[in-house]
Amino acid sequence: MAQPLALALLLVAAAGWTAAQNCTCPTNKWTICSLVGAGGSCQCKVLGSSHVVNCTTLTSKCLLMKARMSPHKPRKLIKPSEHAVVDNDGLYNPDCDSWGRFKARQCNQSDVCWCVNSVGVRRTDKGDQTLKCDELVRTSYILINLRHQERPRALNHSDLSQAVRRFFHERYQLSPKYITAVEYESPTIQIELQQNASQKAHGDVDIADVAYYFERDVKGESVFHSPHLNLEVRGEPLRVEDTMIYYVDDKPPQFSMKRMTAGLIAVIVVLALAILAGIVVLVISKKKKSGKYEKVEIKEMGEMNKQPNL
Ligand SMILES: *[C@@H]1O[C@H](CO)[C@@H](O)[C@H](O)[C@H]1NC(C)=O
Ligand SMILES: *[C@@H]1O[C@H](CO)[C@@H](O)[C@H](O)[C@H]1NC(C)=O
Ligand SMILES: *[C@@H]1O[C@H](CO)[C@@H](O)[C@H](O)[C@H]1NC(C)=O
Ligand SMILES: *[C@@H]1O[C@H](CO)[C@@H](O)[C@H](O)[C@H]1NC(C)=O
Ligand SMILES: *[C@@H]1O[C@H](CO)[C@@H](O)[C@H](O)[C@H]1NC(C)=O
Repeated sequence: MAQPLALALLLVAAAGWTAAQNCTCPTNKWTICSLVGAGGSCQCKVLGSSHVVNCTTLTSKCLLMKARMSPHKPRKLIKPSEHAVVDNDGLYNPDCDSWGRFKARQCNQSDVCWCVNSVGVRRTDKGDQTLKCDELVRTSYILINLRHQERPRALNHSDLSQAVRRFFHERYQLSPKYITAVEYESPTIQIELQQNASQKAHGDVDIADVAYYFERDVKGESVFHSPHLNLEVRGEPLRVEDTMIYYVDDKPPQFSMKRMTAGLIAVIVVLALAILAGIVVLVISKKKKSGKYEKVEIKEMGEMNKQPNL
């Protein structure tokens, strides 16, 4: 009688230990996990807030940005990325709603407020506490621009396109139907993500979160535990760099031109996709010649804003 009981206890203890060893959040390392309840299930809370996250899917960008601002963040993650071409105009500590999404209005400690879109990027001028943001405007179109490192021969476009779709599906759970294009003109790669509110089914990852996970991966500051960006084209690893992410909202942004100072805004927010397509070509061709993005962008942004009703 005693022996089976002891064995059972041992097994239970072993199971508990195993669970304890593995109580981590595979999709978000910026969490603190612990075993809760009688069953000892593993519950993970995101750093910087008390939000419990679902570790079978991506964590929302808002919560991730909060975690990045958290003083409790492990030291090795703080490493500034010198080559950060694109960020919002400054990393801020965002307000997230109970779903983990960005609140439409964000303020910083000095009572400066602004409105953001669903990727947390500012889309209005800054104002004071009286500023109103009626709704959270959705960003349904995201264009990721990046370059691969020099290589003897250009990649095969269709192989690259397939590899990118597979990679986004396997690593970020993004259904390939939301990748509407993969363009390539060596060394520039463009990945076009489109997902509007009516398309997005319950349980689908949001392209905002996918783009953020991807950006962190490219910058070597992965949100996942598994650090390596294993983007492979025909079994050959592809090293990518210089990410540039463009966001297009469902409604045009509301900036007054004089506020658009150079260097501050590294993202372009426009309504018309037709315009964007034209601009992207421009950016690429200019970049080839001068190797500079920044000037082109700011100029383009000015031009786009002169076309309010497109
Ligand atoms: C944790 O889980 C992984 C698989 O997810 C398994 O390979 C590993 O052995 C587990 N670790 C422990 C200590 O049980
Ligand atoms: C708040 O925003 C203002 C205006 O952009 C900036 O000058 C200030 O440094 C910001 N403060 C914090 C704490 O981020
Ligand atoms: C690219 O690879 C595909 C097979 O994956 C092949 O059919 C196609 O001809 C290749 N294209 C070029 C330009 O090499
Ligand atoms: C969402 O996207 C789908 C597919 O592109 C399109 O058919 C539909 O009209 C779009 N809905 C809205 C509200 O824009
Ligand atoms: C976690 O996310 C997955 C995938 O979106 C979903 O199927 C599952 O129901 C979620 N679990 C909880 C506890 O919300």
